[in-house]
Amino acid sequence: MPAPSPSTDTPTPATTTVVAHHRYGPPEVLVAERAPMPVAGADEVVLAVEAVAVSRAEAAFRAARPAVARLATGLLRPRRPVLGGDVGGRVLAVGAGVTHLRPGDRVLAQTGIAMGGYARHLRAPATAVLPVPDGVPTPEAVALAEGGSTALPFVRDHARVRPGTRLLVNGASGAVGAAAVQLAAHLGAEVTGVCSTDHVELVRSLGAASVVDRTRTPLEALAGPYDVVLNAVGTSSFRRCRHLLAPGGSYLTTVPGAGILVRTALRPVLRGPLLRGPLGGRTAAIAFTGLRPAADRLADVRHLLDLAAAGAVRGVVDRTWPLEEAAAAHAYVDTGRKAGTVLLLP
Ligand SMILES: NC(=O)c1ccc[n+]([C@@H]2O[C@H](COP(=O)([O-])OP(=O)(O)OC[C@H]3O[C@@H](n4cnc5c(N)ncnc54)[C@H](OP(=O)(O)O)[C@@H]3O)[C@@H](O)[C@H]2O)c1
Repeated sequence: MPAPSPSTDTPTPATTTVVAHHRYGPPEVLVAERAPMPVAGADEVVLAVEAVAVSRAEAAFRAARPAVARLATGLLRPRRPVLGGDVGGRVLAVGAGVTHLRPGDRVLAQTGIAMGGYARHLRAPATAVLPVPDGVPTPEAVALAEGGSTALPFVRDHARVRPGTRLLVNGASGAVGAAAVQLAAHLGAEVTGVCSTDHVELVRSLGAASVVDRTRTPLEALAGPYDVVLNAVGTSSFRRCRHLLAPGGSYLTTVPGAGILVRTALRPVLRGPLLRGPLGGRTAAIAFTGLRPAADRLADVRHLLDLAAAGAVRGVVDRTWPLEEAAAAHAYVDTGRKAGTVLLLP
């Protein structure tokens, strides 16, 4: 095993702090504990973590909600007790086989299902780590990666947004929605964002041409037509949105619900020549962006960071907490009212 290269003359501590959950439940199951200081293997790096996102998915994993999530996270207890998949920080040490990163580099790591980011130090495969461009603050880079790595495939690949595409984003102030509004506007779409009163100005500032305050105007009262409705937060079904769609339009959702998996499977048939006429070709689909190959996800994060460096998009940071207060951060995420991304700052 090759020795890691130390970054500074300061002696490396023997232990670090992580926040773990050893059982499923409310935010209080998250506890700070000591763990051995990670050591970089040949193709790995060790980071000093500076910011880590607290996502809706992680809050759901912690609570095992819905219960079927246990199939992925562990039937009786969490298989991976330390959550945190979108991490920003500085490289502390690199393994002998790592050539594109050096100690001191400011980086972003996407550890995916391996998690481990709720920690002061993180060991990650070098292939999951990217330099953060100058001019993009680390917390914003983490926020952009969290929302953008879902929003980008939805906007680019599933909605196929082009100049002039009429796009409605429900949940426009959430992590995914905020990134989707910006990416679609950058691609030339005519974006309408739906959010509550508190977030109207935020969504407008992200590039939405018009903003609907959902507390005053329900989706049922809107007329459209939109080429695409992106349901970023799962609070509006296809049934509620069908009247908003132009002929041939698509309803896309990030959240599984009754019927959407069937509709997704039937989409090619409904778009086919037999049914397109009578049904207007309006279809609905879900996509699971986290299931894409890690290399594709990382290429997307690289693209998002390049866009951020060019000033085309930005990461939206809501509230931040120290690492040890992860339970408070989770309680806030559980409200379903965060705007953009919640971060832990170790
Ligand atoms: N399919 C995938 O691959 C994938 C990947 C990542 C995430 N997801 C899922 O995508 C969903 C969104 O994630 P996120 O991180 O963007 O969520 P989020 O940041 O927690 O979204 C919060 C926003 O939702 C809005 N909201 C709350 N209740 C609402 C309602 N009744 N109607 C309309 N908007 C409402 C709130 O905005 P206002 O108060 O301003 O309305 C709030 O700002 C989550 O369920 C997550 O699990 C799916």
